[in-house]
Amino acid sequence: MFGDAEAYERFMGRWSRQLAPLLVDFAGIPDTGRVLDVGSGTGALTDSVARKRTQCELLGIDPSQEYVAFANSRNAYPVRVRFEVGDAQALRFAAGTFQSCLSLLVFNFIPDRNKALTELIRVAKPGGCIAAAVWDYGVGMRMLRSFWDAAVAVDATASKLDERHMPLCRDTELEALWKRHKLTQVTQRPLDFSMRFASFADYWEPFLLGQGPAGSYVRKLDAGNREKLRAEVQRRLELPRPDQPFSLPSRAWAVRGIVAAR
Ligand SMILES: C[S@@+](CC[C@H](N)C(=O)[O-])C[C@H]1O[C@@H](n2cnc3c(N)ncnc32)[C@H](O)[C@@H]1O
Repeated sequence: MFGDAEAYERFMGRWSRQLAPLLVDFAGIPDTGRVLDVGSGTGALTDSVARKRTQCELLGIDPSQEYVAFANSRNAYPVRVRFEVGDAQALRFAAGTFQSCLSLLVFNFIPDRNKALTELIRVAKPGGCIAAAVWDYGVGMRMLRSFWDAAVAVDATASKLDERHMPLCRDTELEALWKRHKLTQVTQRPLDFSMRFASFADYWEPFLLGQGPAGSYVRKLDAGNREKLRAEVQRRLELPRPDQPFSLPSRAWAVRGIVAAR
């Protein structure tokens, strides 16, 4: 029933669930009012806010009906948390509805990011916090970096798909976007943690699930080229034993700002 959502959880949700508390701590949002999770996906960030802030009401919006249904089905806080279908670029809420708006691993995927941020500022209260984070796809997010470096080494045409070209994934880019809008006290920070894999199979097999640009690329390879890529990724990771646990560092860039008085 939730094939895509479950695949997302296995590929990325398990890491966004580790990143989410770091964004909540960095955002420093008060435990009051309504909180909007923009691009809530399978619910990682909403869940983390609900754990850390026990008084606020939370709403997650996402264009994917399946993710919304999955997140509602796993909702551990049904009284004060819910998820609905929505697009950050055209929010249905009145001005000043939310005390805080948060977004995890989403802004790089939104076609009109200026429109989305303008919408978040509109639906937030003056003095409210708007915070977001995006992976450092170019360097610091080693799980994907190792994958794309190997992909480009075995197939030069993969270069144009390499997620290093993602918007807003480098130092100061999210900050610059926030500073172009009606936000004060804008600050940026890297969020770092370590991704722990049980084995090389635990690293590699989620790439076969068709998730994100990397999963889509793998899906299109024939069996021979997929095996070539698998071997190259494993070689580059330099694991002493592929059946042993290992860790990769991971970095996302986070930004926060306060909605200026209107
Ligand atoms: C990488 S996932 C992140 C999901 C979740 N926040 C997490 O951290 O696990 C990107 C999400 O952005 C959502 N998304 C894409 N375009 C969007 C838009 N215009 N407005 C809101 N969400 C959007 C996708 O549906 C997807 O759930």
